[in-house]
Amino acid sequence: MPTAEQTTSASLDLTWARAQFPSLSQTVNGHPAVFFDGPGGTQVPRRVIDAIADYLARNNANTGGAYATSRNTDRMIAEARAAMGDFLHCDADEIVIGPNMTTLTYALSRSIGRELRAGDEIVLTLLDHDANFSPWKALEEKGVKVLTAAFNPADCTLDMQDLARKITSRTRLVAAGFASNAVGTINNVAEVVRLAKQAGALSYIDAVHYAPHGPIDVQALGCDFLVSSTYKFFGPHMGVLYGRREHLSRLKPYKVRPLTDNIPNCWEWGTLNHECIAGIKACVDYWEELGRRAKPSVESRREAILAAHEAIRPHERAMLETMVGGLLAIPGLTLYGISDPRRFDHRCATLVVRVEGFTPLQLATQLGDRGFFTWDGNYYALNVTEQLDVEKSGGFLRIGLVHYNTMEEVERMLAALREIVKK
Ligand SMILES: Cc1ncc(COP(=O)(O)O)c(C=O)c1O
Repeated sequence: MPTAEQTTSASLDLTWARAQFPSLSQTVNGHPAVFFDGPGGTQVPRRVIDAIADYLARNNANTGGAYATSRNTDRMIAEARAAMGDFLHCDADEIVIGPNMTTLTYALSRSIGRELRAGDEIVLTLLDHDANFSPWKALEEKGVKVLTAAFNPADCTLDMQDLARKITSRTRLVAAGFASNAVGTINNVAEVVRLAKQAGALSYIDAVHYAPHGPIDVQALGCDFLVSSTYKFFGPHMGVLYGRREHLSRLKPYKVRPLTDNIPNCWEWGTLNHECIAGIKACVDYWEELGRRAKPSVESRREAILAAHEAIRPHERAMLETMVGGLLAIPGLTLYGISDPRRFDHRCATLVVRVEGFTPLQLATQLGDRGFFTWDGNYYALNVTEQLDVEKSGGFLRIGLVHYNTMEEVERMLAALREIVKK
Protein backbone atom coordinates (compact mmCIF):
# COMPACT_ATOMS: atom_id res chain seq x y z
CA MET A 1 0.00 0.00 0.00
CA PRO A 2 2.61 2.65 0.81
CA THR A 3 4.58 2.31 -2.45
CA ALA A 4 3.43 5.71 -3.73
CA GLU A 5 4.73 7.43 -0.60
CA GLN A 6 8.05 5.66 -0.68
CA THR A 7 8.84 7.25 -4.04
CA THR A 8 8.08 10.76 -2.71
CA SER A 9 9.75 10.48 0.68
CA ALA A 10 12.53 7.94 0.56
CA SER A 11 13.56 8.20 4.18
CA LEU A 12 10.14 7.85 5.83
CA ASP A 13 9.49 4.24 6.74
CA LEU A 14 5.73 4.56 6.40
CA THR A 15 5.07 0.83 6.66
CA TRP A 16 6.89 0.76 9.98
CA ALA A 17 5.24 3.97 11.15
CA ARG A 18 1.71 2.76 10.40
CA ALA A 19 2.40 -0.59 12.05
CA GLN A 20 3.08 1.29 15.30
CA PHE A 21 -0.54 2.53 15.51
CA PRO A 22 -2.97 -0.27 16.41
CA SER A 23 -6.06 1.85 15.74
CA LEU A 24 -5.21 2.36 12.06
CA SER A 25 -6.21 -1.19 11.19
CA GLN A 26 -9.86 -0.78 12.23
CA THR A 27 -12.80 -0.93 9.85
CA VAL A 28 -16.12 0.95 9.77
CA ASN A 29 -19.09 -0.62 7.94
CA GLY A 30 -16.58 -2.86 6.20
CA HIS A 31 -14.44 0.09 5.06
CA PRO A 32 -10.91 0.62 6.32
CA ALA A 33 -10.93 3.46 8.86
CA VAL A 34 -9.17 6.56 7.52
CA PHE A 35 -8.09 8.97 10.23
CA PHE A 36 -8.31 12.46 8.76
CA ASP A 37 -9.22 13.80 12.21
CA GLY A 38 -5.64 14.45 13.36
CA PRO A 39 -6.25 18.18 14.05
CA GLY A 40 -8.81 17.13 16.66
CA GLY A 41 -6.43 14.56 18.13
CA THR A 42 -4.07 12.02 16.60
CA GLN A 43 -3.82 8.27 17.13
CA VAL A 44 -1.19 6.85 19.46
CA PRO A 45 1.51 4.28 18.82
CA ARG A 46 1.48 1.01 20.74
CA ARG A 47 4.36 2.12 22.97
CA VAL A 48 2.25 5.01 24.34
CA ILE A 49 -0.57 2.61 25.22
CA ASP A 50 1.93 0.20 26.81
CA ALA A 51 3.66 2.94 28.82
CA ILE A 52 0.32 4.09 30.25
CA ALA A 53 -0.73 0.55 31.15
CA ASP A 54 2.70 -0.33 32.50
CA TYR A 55 2.77 2.72 34.76
CA LEU A 56 -0.62 1.79 36.21
CA ALA A 57 0.40 -1.84 36.61
CA ARG A 58 3.74 -1.21 38.30
CA ASN A 59 4.31 2.31 39.51
CA ASN A 60 0.98 3.91 40.32
CA ALA A 61 1.80 6.35 43.13
CA ASN A 62 1.87 9.98 44.08
CA THR A 63 5.09 11.97 43.88
CA GLY A 64 7.69 12.73 46.52
CA GLY A 65 7.26 9.65 48.71
CA ALA A 66 10.08 7.68 50.35
CA TYR A 67 9.28 4.40 48.65
CA ALA A 68 9.92 2.62 45.37
CA THR A 69 6.83 3.36 43.27
CA SER A 70 6.81 7.02 44.28
CA ARG A 71 10.50 7.37 43.45
CA ASN A 72 9.89 5.65 40.12
CA THR A 73 7.07 8.12 39.47
CA ASP A 74 9.38 11.06 40.22
CA ARG A 75 12.01 9.63 37.89
CA MET A 76 9.49 8.96 35.14
CA ILE A 77 8.14 12.54 35.29
CA ALA A 78 11.69 13.92 35.14
CA GLU A 79 12.36 11.78 32.07
CA ALA A 80 9.16 12.95 30.37
CA ARG A 81 10.07 16.56 31.08
CA ALA A 82 13.55 16.09 29.63
CA ALA A 83 12.06 14.40 26.57
CA MET A 84 9.68 17.33 26.02
CA GLY A 85 12.64 19.66 26.53
CA ASP A 86 14.31 17.97 23.56
CA PHE A 87 11.08 18.13 21.57
CA LEU A 88 10.80 21.90 22.04
CA HIS A 89 14.55 22.57 22.48
CA CYS A 90 14.63 23.92 26.00
CA ASP A 91 15.68 22.76 29.46
CA ALA A 92 13.56 20.31 31.43
CA ASP A 93 12.80 22.87 34.15
CA GLU A 94 11.18 25.11 31.53
CA ILE A 95 8.55 22.47 30.77
CA VAL A 96 5.24 22.74 32.65
CA ILE A 97 2.90 19.77 32.29
CA GLY A 98 -0.86 20.24 32.53
CA PRO A 99 -4.18 18.68 31.54
CA ASN A 100 -4.38 20.47 28.17
CA MET A 101 -3.43 23.68 26.39
CA THR A 102 -6.58 25.54 27.42
CA THR A 103 -6.08 24.92 31.14
CA LEU A 104 -2.40 25.85 30.96
CA THR A 105 -3.25 29.05 29.09
CA TYR A 106 -5.93 30.07 31.59
CA ALA A 107 -3.49 29.42 34.46
CA LEU A 108 -0.67 31.39 32.91
CA SER A 109 -2.85 34.23 31.70
CA ARG A 110 -4.20 34.70 35.26
CA SER A 111 -0.66 35.02 36.56
CA ILE A 112 0.49 37.35 33.80
CA GLY A 113 -2.70 39.34 34.46
CA ARG A 114 -1.50 39.97 38.02
CA GLU A 115 1.22 42.19 36.57
CA LEU A 116 -1.03 44.13 34.19
CA ARG A 117 -2.77 47.43 34.87
CA ALA A 118 -5.64 49.29 33.30
CA GLY A 119 -4.45 50.80 30.03
CA ASP A 120 -1.95 48.01 29.29
CA GLU A 121 -2.58 46.33 25.95
CA ILE A 122 -2.61 42.77 24.65
CA VAL A 123 -2.58 41.91 20.95
CA LEU A 124 -4.35 38.76 19.74
CA THR A 125 -5.17 37.42 16.28
CA LEU A 126 -8.48 36.49 14.67
CA LEU A 127 -6.84 33.41 13.17
CA ASP A 128 -6.32 31.76 16.54
CA HIS A 129 -8.15 28.95 18.28
CA ASP A 130 -10.33 30.39 21.03
CA ALA A 131 -8.03 28.91 23.67
CA ASN A 132 -5.44 31.53 22.69
CA PHE A 133 -8.08 34.24 22.63
CA SER A 134 -10.69 34.05 25.40
CA PRO A 135 -8.21 33.55 28.30
CA TRP A 136 -6.50 36.81 27.28
CA LYS A 137 -9.75 38.59 26.46
CA ALA A 138 -10.91 37.87 30.03
CA LEU A 139 -8.22 40.29 31.24
CA GLU A 140 -10.44 43.11 30.02
CA GLU A 141 -12.05 42.70 33.44
CA LYS A 142 -8.93 44.41 34.80
CA GLY A 143 -9.13 47.29 32.35
CA VAL A 144 -6.59 45.75 29.99
CA LYS A 145 -7.22 46.73 26.38
CA VAL A 146 -7.34 43.87 23.89
CA LEU A 147 -6.59 44.51 20.21
CA THR A 148 -7.03 41.93 17.49
CA ALA A 149 -5.01 41.52 14.31
CA ALA A 150 -7.00 40.60 11.22
CA PHE A 151 -6.33 37.97 8.58
CA ASN A 152 -6.71 38.23 4.83
CA PRO A 153 -9.93 36.43 3.89
CA ALA A 154 -8.67 35.61 0.38
CA ASP A 155 -5.90 33.25 1.53
CA CYS A 156 -6.43 33.17 5.32
CA THR A 157 -2.95 34.47 6.10
CA LEU A 158 -2.32 36.72 9.06
CA ASP A 159 -2.29 40.42 8.18
CA MET A 160 1.21 41.14 9.44
CA GLN A 161 0.90 44.86 8.74
CA ASP A 162 -2.20 45.05 10.86
CA LEU A 163 -0.43 43.09 13.59
CA ALA A 164 2.65 45.34 13.43
CA ARG A 165 0.44 48.46 13.60
CA LYS A 166 -1.32 47.20 16.70
CA ILE A 167 1.87 46.38 18.63
CA THR A 168 3.02 49.57 20.39
CA SER A 169 4.91 50.63 23.49
CA ARG A 170 1.69 49.97 25.45
CA THR A 171 1.64 46.30 24.40
CA ARG A 172 2.48 43.90 27.22
CA LEU A 173 1.79 40.62 25.46
CA VAL A 174 1.27 39.28 21.95
CA ALA A 175 -0.50 35.92 21.65
CA ALA A 176 -0.46 34.17 18.28
CA GLY A 177 -0.82 30.72 16.81
CA PHE A 178 2.01 28.89 15.07
CA ALA A 179 -0.52 27.35 12.67
CA SER A 180 -4.29 27.60 12.30
CA ASN A 181 -6.24 24.50 13.32
CA ALA A 182 -8.96 25.55 10.87
CA VAL A 183 -7.49 26.88 7.63
CA GLY A 184 -4.02 25.39 8.13
CA THR A 185 -2.02 28.61 7.65
CA ILE A 186 1.46 28.57 9.19
CA ASN A 187 2.13 32.03 10.58
CA ASN A 188 5.46 33.82 10.51
CA VAL A 189 5.84 33.38 14.26
CA ALA A 190 9.50 34.39 14.23
CA GLU A 191 8.37 37.80 13.00
CA VAL A 192 5.53 37.93 15.55
CA VAL A 193 8.06 37.23 18.33
CA ARG A 194 10.45 39.83 16.92
CA LEU A 195 7.72 42.48 16.82
CA ALA A 196 6.68 41.67 20.39
CA LYS A 197 10.26 41.77 21.63
CA GLN A 198 10.94 45.05 19.87
CA ALA A 199 8.01 46.58 21.74
CA GLY A 200 9.14 45.09 25.06
CA ALA A 201 6.11 42.75 25.13
CA LEU A 202 5.91 39.06 26.00
CA SER A 203 5.13 36.54 23.27
CA TYR A 204 2.82 33.56 23.83
CA ILE A 205 2.75 31.06 20.97
CA ASP A 206 0.09 28.40 20.51
CA ALA A 207 1.87 25.53 18.77
CA VAL A 208 -0.91 22.98 19.27
CA HIS A 209 -1.72 22.66 15.60
CA TYR A 210 1.82 23.00 14.29
CA ALA A 211 3.50 20.41 16.50
CA PRO A 212 2.69 17.24 14.48
CA HIS A 213 3.76 18.95 11.24
CA GLY A 214 7.03 20.75 11.86
CA PRO A 215 9.97 21.12 14.23
CA ILE A 216 9.72 23.58 17.11
CA ASP A 217 12.77 25.37 18.48
CA VAL A 218 11.84 27.77 21.25
CA GLN A 219 15.43 28.98 21.53
CA ALA A 220 15.71 29.87 17.85
CA LEU A 221 12.25 31.43 18.00
CA GLY A 222 13.11 33.44 21.11
CA CYS A 223 9.52 33.30 22.34
CA ASP A 224 8.68 33.75 26.02
CA PHE A 225 6.04 31.03 26.15
CA LEU A 226 4.94 28.27 23.80
CA VAL A 227 2.18 25.81 24.49
CA SER A 228 1.09 22.58 22.90
CA SER A 229 -0.95 19.44 23.52
CA THR A 230 0.65 16.01 23.31
CA TYR A 231 -2.55 14.40 22.02
CA LYS A 232 -2.10 16.32 18.77
CA PHE A 233 1.30 14.78 18.12
CA PHE A 234 0.73 11.11 18.82
CA GLY A 235 0.79 11.28 22.61
CA PRO A 236 -1.83 11.11 25.38
CA HIS A 237 -4.44 13.75 26.24
CA MET A 238 -2.18 16.23 28.05
CA GLY A 239 -0.79 19.72 27.56
CA VAL A 240 2.75 21.05 27.82
CA LEU A 241 3.96 24.59 28.19
CA TYR A 242 7.41 26.01 27.62
CA GLY A 243 8.09 29.05 29.75
CA ARG A 244 11.38 30.89 29.69
CA ARG A 245 13.03 30.19 33.05
CA GLU A 246 13.21 33.85 34.05
CA HIS A 247 9.45 34.26 33.58
CA LEU A 248 8.48 31.03 35.31
CA SER A 249 10.62 32.14 38.27
CA ARG A 250 9.44 35.75 38.37
CA LEU A 251 5.71 35.39 37.75
CA LYS A 252 3.53 34.39 40.68
CA PRO A 253 1.40 31.31 40.10
CA TYR A 254 -1.92 30.90 41.89
CA LYS A 255 -1.17 27.86 44.00
CA VAL A 256 -1.88 26.02 47.23
CA ARG A 257 0.54 26.74 50.09
CA PRO A 258 2.18 23.34 50.52
CA LEU A 259 3.13 23.20 46.82
CA THR A 260 6.79 23.97 46.22
CA ASP A 261 7.94 27.39 45.03
CA ASN A 262 10.42 25.72 42.69
CA ILE A 263 9.87 25.84 38.96
CA PRO A 264 8.39 24.17 37.04
CA ASN A 265 6.42 22.25 39.70
CA CYS A 266 4.97 25.41 41.26
CA TRP A 267 2.99 25.83 38.01
CA GLU A 268 1.55 22.32 38.15
CA TRP A 269 -1.63 22.13 40.19
CA GLY A 270 -2.74 19.13 42.18
CA THR A 271 -1.91 15.60 41.21
CA LEU A 272 -1.24 15.26 37.51
CA ASN A 273 -2.22 12.38 35.28
CA HIS A 274 0.94 10.35 35.88
CA GLU A 275 0.02 7.50 33.56
CA CYS A 276 -0.36 9.96 30.70
CA ILE A 277 2.96 11.57 31.59
CA ALA A 278 4.48 8.11 31.11
CA GLY A 279 2.75 8.21 27.72
CA ILE A 280 4.37 11.57 26.90
CA LYS A 281 7.83 10.07 27.30
CA ALA A 282 6.80 7.14 25.07
CA CYS A 283 5.44 9.59 22.50
CA VAL A 284 8.81 11.35 22.27
CA ASP A 285 10.46 7.90 22.06
CA TYR A 286 8.28 7.28 18.99
CA TRP A 287 9.46 10.52 17.38
CA GLU A 288 13.03 9.57 18.19
CA GLU A 289 12.78 6.14 16.63
CA LEU A 290 11.02 7.55 13.55
CA GLY A 291 13.94 9.95 13.16
CA ARG A 292 16.67 7.37 13.78
CA ARG A 293 15.14 5.11 11.15
CA ALA A 294 14.96 8.01 8.70
CA LYS A 295 18.53 9.12 9.36
CA PRO A 296 20.62 6.51 11.22
CA SER A 297 23.57 8.93 11.49
CA VAL A 298 21.82 11.18 14.04
CA GLU A 299 23.41 11.28 17.45
CA SER A 300 21.17 13.05 19.96
CA ARG A 301 17.45 12.69 20.66
CA ARG A 302 16.91 16.26 19.45
CA GLU A 303 18.64 15.46 16.13
CA ALA A 304 16.46 12.38 15.76
CA ILE A 305 13.28 14.45 16.31
CA LEU A 306 14.45 16.90 13.64
CA ALA A 307 15.21 13.99 11.30
CA ALA A 308 11.69 12.65 11.86
CA HIS A 309 10.28 16.00 10.75
CA GLU A 310 12.60 16.06 7.75
CA ALA A 311 11.26 12.64 6.77
CA ILE A 312 7.57 13.39 7.18
CA ARG A 313 7.63 16.80 5.46
CA PRO A 314 7.82 15.56 1.82
CA HIS A 315 5.24 12.88 2.52
CA GLU A 316 2.74 15.37 3.97
CA ARG A 317 3.51 17.77 1.10
CA ALA A 318 2.85 15.13 -1.57
CA MET A 319 -0.48 14.19 0.03
CA LEU A 320 -1.38 17.88 0.40
CA GLU A 321 -0.74 18.58 -3.28
CA THR A 322 -2.83 15.62 -4.39
CA MET A 323 -5.63 16.45 -1.95
CA VAL A 324 -5.80 20.12 -2.93
CA GLY A 325 -5.64 19.32 -6.67
CA GLY A 326 -8.44 16.79 -6.28
CA LEU A 327 -10.62 19.01 -4.09
CA LEU A 328 -10.37 21.97 -6.43
CA ALA A 329 -11.62 19.80 -9.29
CA ILE A 330 -14.87 18.98 -7.43
CA PRO A 331 -17.74 21.12 -8.77
CA GLY A 332 -19.31 23.46 -6.19
CA LEU A 333 -16.44 23.02 -3.70
CA THR A 334 -14.75 26.03 -2.07
CA LEU A 335 -11.39 25.54 -0.41
CA TYR A 336 -10.39 28.15 2.18
CA GLY A 337 -6.79 29.18 2.79
CA ILE A 338 -3.65 28.88 0.67
CA SER A 339 -4.31 26.80 -2.45
CA ASP A 340 -1.29 27.66 -4.62
CA PRO A 341 1.21 24.77 -4.33
CA ARG A 342 4.09 27.26 -4.65
CA ARG A 343 3.05 28.65 -1.27
CA PHE A 344 2.54 25.33 0.48
CA ASP A 345 5.50 26.00 2.80
CA HIS A 346 3.09 28.39 4.50
CA ARG A 347 0.36 25.87 5.23
CA CYS A 348 -0.15 22.55 6.93
CA ALA A 349 -1.97 19.64 5.35
CA THR A 350 -5.14 20.74 7.15
CA LEU A 351 -7.89 21.67 4.73
CA VAL A 352 -11.30 23.19 5.20
CA VAL A 353 -13.93 23.20 2.50
CA ARG A 354 -17.58 23.82 1.84
CA VAL A 355 -19.60 22.21 -0.92
CA GLU A 356 -22.68 23.83 -2.41
CA GLY A 357 -25.87 22.04 -1.44
CA PHE A 358 -24.38 20.27 1.59
CA THR A 359 -23.82 21.27 5.17
CA PRO A 360 -20.41 20.32 6.59
CA LEU A 361 -22.21 17.97 8.99
CA GLN A 362 -23.94 16.19 6.09
CA LEU A 363 -20.59 15.72 4.36
CA ALA A 364 -18.82 14.55 7.54
CA THR A 365 -21.65 12.09 8.25
CA GLN A 366 -21.64 10.59 4.78
CA LEU A 367 -17.86 10.36 4.80
CA GLY A 368 -17.97 8.88 8.29
CA ASP A 369 -20.32 6.14 7.11
CA ARG A 370 -17.69 5.26 4.51
CA GLY A 371 -14.92 5.10 7.12
CA PHE A 372 -13.41 8.60 6.62
CA PHE A 373 -13.05 10.49 9.89
CA THR A 374 -13.31 14.23 9.28
CA TRP A 375 -14.62 17.14 11.34
CA ASP A 376 -17.34 19.66 10.80
CA GLY A 377 -18.05 22.92 12.60
CA ASN A 378 -15.70 25.59 13.93
CA TYR A 379 -13.24 23.49 16.02
CA TYR A 380 -13.22 26.45 18.43
CA ALA A 381 -11.60 28.67 15.79
CA LEU A 382 -14.68 30.78 16.29
CA ASN A 383 -13.28 34.06 14.98
CA VAL A 384 -12.28 32.33 11.75
CA THR A 385 -15.73 30.90 11.03
CA GLU A 386 -17.37 34.19 12.00
CA GLN A 387 -15.05 36.30 9.85
CA LEU A 388 -15.57 34.00 6.88
CA ASP A 389 -19.32 34.04 7.52
CA VAL A 390 -19.79 30.30 7.78
CA GLU A 391 -20.44 30.05 11.51
CA LYS A 392 -24.22 30.13 11.23
CA SER A 393 -24.31 27.58 8.45
CA GLY A 394 -22.28 24.80 10.04
CA GLY A 395 -18.68 25.97 9.68
CA PHE A 396 -16.44 23.91 7.43
CA LEU A 397 -15.66 20.32 6.66
CA ARG A 398 -12.10 19.79 7.90
CA ILE A 399 -9.77 17.16 6.46
CA GLY A 400 -6.53 16.86 8.41
CA LEU A 401 -3.58 14.83 7.19
CA VAL A 402 -0.68 13.66 9.32
CA HIS A 403 2.28 11.45 8.51
CA TYR A 404 0.52 8.14 9.18
CA ASN A 405 -1.96 8.85 6.39
CA THR A 406 -1.26 7.52 2.90
CA MET A 407 -1.60 8.73 -0.65
CA GLU A 408 -4.00 5.87 -1.25
CA GLU A 409 -6.25 7.17 1.55
CA VAL A 410 -6.17 10.62 -0.05
CA GLU A 411 -7.21 9.21 -3.40
CA ARG A 412 -9.98 7.12 -1.88
CA MET A 413 -11.26 10.12 0.04
CA LEU A 414 -11.38 12.21 -3.12
CA ALA A 415 -13.29 9.45 -4.91
CA ALA A 416 -15.76 9.21 -2.00
CA LEU A 417 -16.31 12.96 -1.93
CA ARG A 418 -16.86 13.04 -5.70
CA GLU A 419 -19.44 10.29 -5.37
CA ILE A 420 -21.25 12.01 -2.46
CA VAL A 421 -21.37 15.36 -4.23
CA LYS A 422 -22.70 13.84 -7.47
CA LYS A 423 -25.73 12.27 -5.79
C1 LIG B 1 -4.60 25.47 17.60
C2 LIG B 1 -5.21 24.95 18.87
N1 LIG B 1 -5.01 25.62 20.01
C3 LIG B 1 -5.52 25.21 21.17
C4 LIG B 1 -6.29 24.08 21.24
C5 LIG B 1 -6.84 23.65 22.57
O1 LIG B 1 -6.11 22.55 23.00
P1 LIG B 1 -6.55 21.69 24.27
O2 LIG B 1 -7.64 20.80 23.86
O3 LIG B 1 -5.28 20.95 24.63
O4 LIG B 1 -6.94 22.64 25.34
C6 LIG B 1 -6.55 23.34 20.08
C7 LIG B 1 -7.42 22.15 20.11
O5 LIG B 1 -7.99 21.77 19.13
C8 LIG B 1 -5.98 23.79 18.87
O6 LIG B 1 -6.17 23.12 17.72
